[in-house]
Amino acid sequence: MKITISHIKADIGSLPGHSTVDDKVMAAIEKYIKENYKGKISDYKMSHVGDDAQITMIHTGGINNKEVHELAWNAFKAGTEVAKEIGLYGAGQDLLKDSFSGNLKGMGPGVAEMEINERPSEPFIVYMMDKTEPGAFNLPIYKMFADPFNTPGLVIDGGMHDGFRFEVWDVIDHKNIMFDSPSEIYDMLALIGSKSRYVIKRVYTRSENKKLPDENVAVISTDKLSMIAGKYVGKDDPAAVVRIQSGLPAAGESLEAFSFPYLVSGWMRGSFNGPLMPVSMKDSKMTRFDGPPRVVALGFVEKNGRLEGPVDMFDDPAFDYARRIAVEMTDHIRRMGPFEPHRLPDQDMEYTTLPAVIEKLKGRFKDMEK
Ligand code: F6R
Ligand code: MG
Ligand code: MG
Repeated sequence: MKITISHIKADIGSLPGHSTVDDKVMAAIEKYIKENYKGKISDYKMSHVGDDAQITMIHTGGINNKEVHELAWNAFKAGTEVAKEIGLYGAGQDLLKDSFSGNLKGMGPGVAEMEINERPSEPFIVYMMDKTEPGAFNLPIYKMFADPFNTPGLVIDGGMHDGFRFEVWDVIDHKNIMFDSPSEIYDMLALIGSKSRYVIKRVYTRSENKKLPDENVAVISTDKLSMIAGKYVGKDDPAAVVRIQSGLPAAGESLEAFSFPYLVSGWMRGSFNGPLMPVSMKDSKMTRFDGPPRVVALGFVEKNGRLEGPVDMFDDPAFDYARRIAVEMTDHIRRMGPFEPHRLPDQDMEYTTLPAVIEKLKGRFKDMEK
């Protein structure tokens, strides 16, 4: 049976400021879905990371499905009403358009969805990041599906031995390119190391090797909020859906990719590099310097359109050490204050105040002798 997993998220207001979601808002979103989901989706689960409300849905309508996207949009609208009533900061922030038309493309919420052939057991993990950008997934997705030092299954599981196919998007020029792994990993790494421009969008099985259909096995949300709105309106805060087990990375191989807190862009005012800390959902409120950036992992299985789970995968002492290193890195890098490479280079800063400062000083620059 073909099913679609649609994970849709939005920041529609935070408590007290860009820190966490509010229970009453989450309840309002869920109430709308509960009262309106029948006939559109077969099951759903609510979650959150930092200031982003998240909905994981199962249906048979394919990707970019009008009814499914509209359901999420209206649920976020219902949540926004409550956020406004109680005065949450940035109420309705990610709902950039007044009315819904067709699907969520360009409307603000982040979408990670894929249509798949359901396996007898369909286990997957939803990863949700706050205070960073879609390219923050490049490194861990690469490690899961292409690095045998992270994923020994690539070497010892015959089902993975032939590698995977990666779809990479150039989010500035709006182009995409496919790379086969392992044969083309050096070309791919040349691009995806530039993570603010080239982002991994999807990973597929390679049917010519496996005699299986081209299956989509991972998808990352790549909605560039700043480009949509033409100005900075908040970080992209991406999410990903990653299928696991049985010829795909094991749950533990997938999670292993987050065991060291690599540096990502975002954090305070969308303008700083900082370590990505793997945390449980209850620990995903943004505090120090509006961060540090965090990732939550929720494990599910799907069967006949029903979802079982989630299991909060980073709610485990095995990730305590990674969290401690992230706190040490935070301490280290914070001492650099407004200097690069803690602060991002000008062109990568998503906050609009720097151009205003430079504009103000323009008249005071004097030509110097060559
Ligand atoms: C970063 C983020 C926060 C805000 C910061 C300032 O993605 O959301 O770090 O940029 O709290 O917020 P404003 O400008 O809304 O006061
Ligand atoms: Mg926010
Ligand atoms: Mg956020």
